[in-house]
Amino acid sequence: MRSLFNFNDHWLYAPRELAYGASDDSFEPVTLPHSNITLPLRNFDNLEYQFVSTYRKRFTLPEARAGRRVYVDFDGAMTASTIVCNGVTLGDHDGGYVPFSFDLTDHLRDGENVLQVRLDSSERPDIPPNGHLVDYLTFGGIYRDVTLRFVEPTHIARLFARPRDVLSKPALAVDVYLEGALEDAHSVSAVLKDPAGVTIADASLDALPSRGGERRITLDFGALPDIALWDVNAPVLYTVEVGLYDGAAKRDDVATRIGFREAVFKKDGFYLNGRRLKLMGLNRHQTYPYIGAAAPARLQRRDADILKDELGVNIVRTSHYPQSPHFLNRCDEIGLLVFEEIPGWQFIGDSDWQALTMRDVRVMIERDRNHPAVILWGVRINESWDNEALYTATNALAHKLDPTRQTGGVRYFQDSQFLEDVFTYNDFSDTVVDPVHLPHLITEFCGHRFSTKTSDQEERQIAHALFHARIQDKQMGHPTIAGAIGWCFFDYNTHREFGSGDRVCYHGVTDMFRLPKYAAYVYESQIDPAVRPVLRAVTRGAAGDRSGGGFEPLYVCSNCEEVALYVGDEMIQRASPARDEFPHLPHAPFKFSQCGLRLEEGLMNQYGDLRVVGTIGGQAVIEQRIRANGIPGALVVQPDDTELHADGADMTRLVFKVVDSYGNRLHYYNAIVSFTLEGPGELVGDNPFALIGGQAALYVRAGRTPGTLTIRASAARMEPVEVTITTR
Ligand code: GAL
Repeated sequence: MRSLFNFNDHWLYAPRELAYGASDDSFEPVTLPHSNITLPLRNFDNLEYQFVSTYRKRFTLPEARAGRRVYVDFDGAMTASTIVCNGVTLGDHDGGYVPFSFDLTDHLRDGENVLQVRLDSSERPDIPPNGHLVDYLTFGGIYRDVTLRFVEPTHIARLFARPRDVLSKPALAVDVYLEGALEDAHSVSAVLKDPAGVTIADASLDALPSRGGERRITLDFGALPDIALWDVNAPVLYTVEVGLYDGAAKRDDVATRIGFREAVFKKDGFYLNGRRLKLMGLNRHQTYPYIGAAAPARLQRRDADILKDELGVNIVRTSHYPQSPHFLNRCDEIGLLVFEEIPGWQFIGDSDWQALTMRDVRVMIERDRNHPAVILWGVRINESWDNEALYTATNALAHKLDPTRQTGGVRYFQDSQFLEDVFTYNDFSDTVVDPVHLPHLITEFCGHRFSTKTSDQEERQIAHALFHARIQDKQMGHPTIAGAIGWCFFDYNTHREFGSGDRVCYHGVTDMFRLPKYAAYVYESQIDPAVRPVLRAVTRGAAGDRSGGGFEPLYVCSNCEEVALYVGDEMIQRASPARDEFPHLPHAPFKFSQCGLRLEEGLMNQYGDLRVVGTIGGQAVIEQRIRANGIPGALVVQPDDTELHADGADMTRLVFKVVDSYGNRLHYYNAIVSFTLEGPGELVGDNPFALIGGQAALYVRAGRTPGTLTIRASAARMEPVEVTITTR
């Protein structure tokens, strides 16, 4: 039978190339996911992570081999890995975004074994995405999980579950890929389990083809009993469990979660389960402050939750490469659609480089085709020039590996050769251009056209928010465009050829910590009010910050039916959604003008606090108060989680900000906040930290011993704050 062991702990690491025989003294102990260097927030050189490092792991087999083969599975290591087992070089893997495995079996010993990885994290021009400029950073390290896998010589390599006819007569076929010699006695059987774990159907096959190499057999479940569909609002997941038998003895066991849904782009838009659904989303990189791409499962999952729950989007594009399995798993669980694409950016290399692109298409699809959330494969290098031979081949390969999904390929010119199923287009026209090819999906807009920081003056932040609102509004009203995915979810570190001079692209609707700019409120306010009411005044309510003073027009992002504006106790104006400006957004922002908020200095002192009240069905359901007197009310420190796994890798975000007495962030209050941590864990990030735009975050990493982490934060003139996190 199969056994899987988490292989993330007890690694040794050296930030340099070391020979196989080098002493352990030259290494430090680390746990994966691991970044080859911890970096500052910004203003660092990409050369800092571009070096060869060495990872070593000493291990004894956690259980007897009992005739089984033993593989080491890497979910991802940036960028080129050479694997050595007990002194024998097993091979190389080039490319940081897709998983790879090595068969250790013939090199293992009784007692201690040594696995060593030479990891070249330089921007190797022979490996996608590099070769030319790239507007993001390919941070180094073994930055995803590693697993030790024991399997019988004949075992299941992969599954591909293919639901079909889900709207009429749901049926399911499962392709089972087998590896190893097949005997007459081998058979395969599978069960389908509902979300409660109850078996609702089964299928089996006795006569397996007995040829050499890897084989695919297909189990057909035929028509199924009542099936609940997977949808964005009800992401119902089923499980397929497949067993491989040798006579009566079970030899292997693999399970995958699946969802029954029909996702198709047609000429007039995207249809989920037969219903036209306008896509509204954001692009996500996989990078984080300080730790590069080495974010453990919890942070990966949290990003999906932020996109869905805090920003209310229904689709994410994994720009510009396959991302963490943990992120995709969470997208399945919460109903967040995914457009996933191969690594690359504006550049196509030589035939060897292109062979890696073909490999990336294959591995991406083989890895991720069971995720119901994934609705489209991106099989072009983002924004590259046309290349008929290459893109005919990537499209054909994608269709062969997955006949159930359509392809896209992101470009920024309309007359590009259309070889995919969906014309996925980066529309940087600052409006919405009419499609030339259909189906048409906008895959980027805004971005460098309107770089904006959380610390920017409010006029710029408002204009940024309105930019996103305007484009999303236009696409919503367009008869054929399937949707729009904005550039981008959060700010990101980049090369010096891009960004704001500090090597950061401030293109996010949130900052690097995923904390909101005003543009985030445009998205958040599209959330169904039945889920929760949203109301965000797009202002700081200051008398003299905008050109000319005052704060008219005042926009309020809200999903309420009506919003009333009070100054002190006086109701100044009621507004309905600004349908003249945003006729198509599900929830248009509200606009208040000519209501006396254009006063000169002293407005707030004269009239008291600002109060914005949202009503639905005549009932006040949400309100926001702003007291722009600039007096800090409190230092607020909020961990995303109060319990962590004591595995040496688990992390959570610790958000801190200074707010006024109503809880509004004080945007220009750049307090220096200092932290101490007691207990088995560590703080990751700059400490002390001067707030940016009145907010920031650190990360808390659990140690390897269970206990209590006590974190104390202090800033001048503020009450200190203490929070505790338990690690188990
Ligand atoms: C696009 C590119 C993105 C990002 C963006 C900035 O051209 O695809 O990766 O660089 O521009 O606006």
